[in-house]
Formats: sequence, C-alpha cells, structure tokens
Amino acid sequence: MNEISDSVTRISSLVGAAKQYSQLDRAPYQVVDVRDLLDSTLTMLAAKLGDGITVVKDYDPGLPRIPAYPSELNQVWTNLIDNACAAMDGHGTLTIRTAMDGDRLLVEFADTGPGIPDDIKPRIFEPFFTTKPVGQGTGLGLDISWRIVVNRHHGDLRAESVPGNTRLQVRLPLTPPEEGR
Ligand SMILES: Nc1ncnc2c1ncn2[C@@H]1O[C@H](COP(=O)(O)OP(=O)(O)OP(=O)(O)O)[C@@H](O)[C@H]1O
Ligand SMILES: [Mg+2]
Repeated sequence: MNEISDSVTRISSLVGAAKQYSQLDRAPYQVVDVRDLLDSTLTMLAAKLGDGITVVKDYDPGLPRIPAYPSELNQVWTNLIDNACAAMDGHGTLTIRTAMDGDRLLVEFADTGPGIPDDIKPRIFEPFFTTKPVGQGTGLGLDISWRIVVNRHHGDLRAESVPGNTRLQVRLPLTPPEEGR
C-alpha cells in the first residue's frame, strides 16, 4: 500500500510539473514565481540531467513574483540547461541561482564545463551559430532565448565565462513595460 501511495504521489507531482511546464491551460501572460517555473523545468529535464550532473538550487526565499510569459521563460530555462549539460558532457555541477539585482530579478545558470572561448563569445547569440557537430545543434537555442528575454520581456541576457565557471544570466524587470515605450 505504501509503495502504491508513493508512486501515486510521484506520478501526480510529475503531472503537476508537466502542466506547469507546458502552461497549456494557463493564461499566456501572468504574474509568476520564477522558482516554480525553474522547478517544473528541472523535473521535465531530470532524465537529461542524469546521475552525472549535480543540480544545486540557490533560490532567494524573498523573491517577488513578476509579470511574464511563463511558457516562453520555460523555453529559455530549457535552452540554457541544455547548453550547460552539453558543455559538461554529462558530468559536473549545475547551479541555478535566483536573486534580486537592483531593480531586476536575476536568474543565473552556472556550469562547471570548459567555458566559452573568447573568440566565439561575441557570436553565441547569433542565429545558427553552433560549435556542435552537424545534426546535434541548430544554433538557435540562444537566439530564441535572446528574443524571449530581451524582445518579449525587456530583460537582459549575458554570458560570463572562464574555464570551470560559465554563467548565463537572465535579468527580468519586476513590472510590465510602460505603454508606448
Ligand atoms: N554553457 C555553455 N558552455 C560553453 N559553451 C556554450 C554554453 N552555452 C552556449 N555555448 C556555446 O554557444 C553556442 C550556441 O548555443 P545555442 O544554444 O545557440 O546553440 P546550440 O546549443 O549549439 O544548438 P541548439 O541550442 O540549437 O541545440 C554553442 O554551440 C556553444 O558553442
Ligand atoms: Mg543550445
């Protein structure tokens, strides 16, 4: 009976995460807690993360909710986590941090992979730029993420990288853009 009860709990939390991740029955634009979005994305990507990648969550407990397009933000987290996993080749630590940074909300994905070489750093946000072998990457992950963060949310997307510590940082405004801006 306990085993059944455990697996029912696991299944219903997976269904809950899938609903949160897909946002299918939710309003496209709403006030959200980004920590919930991150958690549902992590649940959906658990298989990809495997046993070799340790996930560390460093969430600010006092983080405010923000107006956003949640399913689009989930795509951003998915792309950034996918890149971090690929860079670490299945082994390393992924640290996801949320914090306030001035008047913006910061979401940071740090990986312990080899880093982004200086000569390609200026190009990583270009559409179709990829260093992955043919058939593995389309080079669209960061381009799409840029459009979602910068164009849709009026936020900012940045990469800071040295070998062993690569941080992709998303900054989002706390309030909706003003009319006519
Ligand atoms: N965390 C990271 N560490 C090292 N390099 C990275 C990291 N994230 C991105 N890059 C570099 O930036 C390039 C572009 O990333 P982007 O997500 O746009 O495309 P991709 O991952 O190659 O392909 P796709 O996302 O379409 O599957 C990558 O090919 C890689 O060279
Ligand atoms: Mg990618």
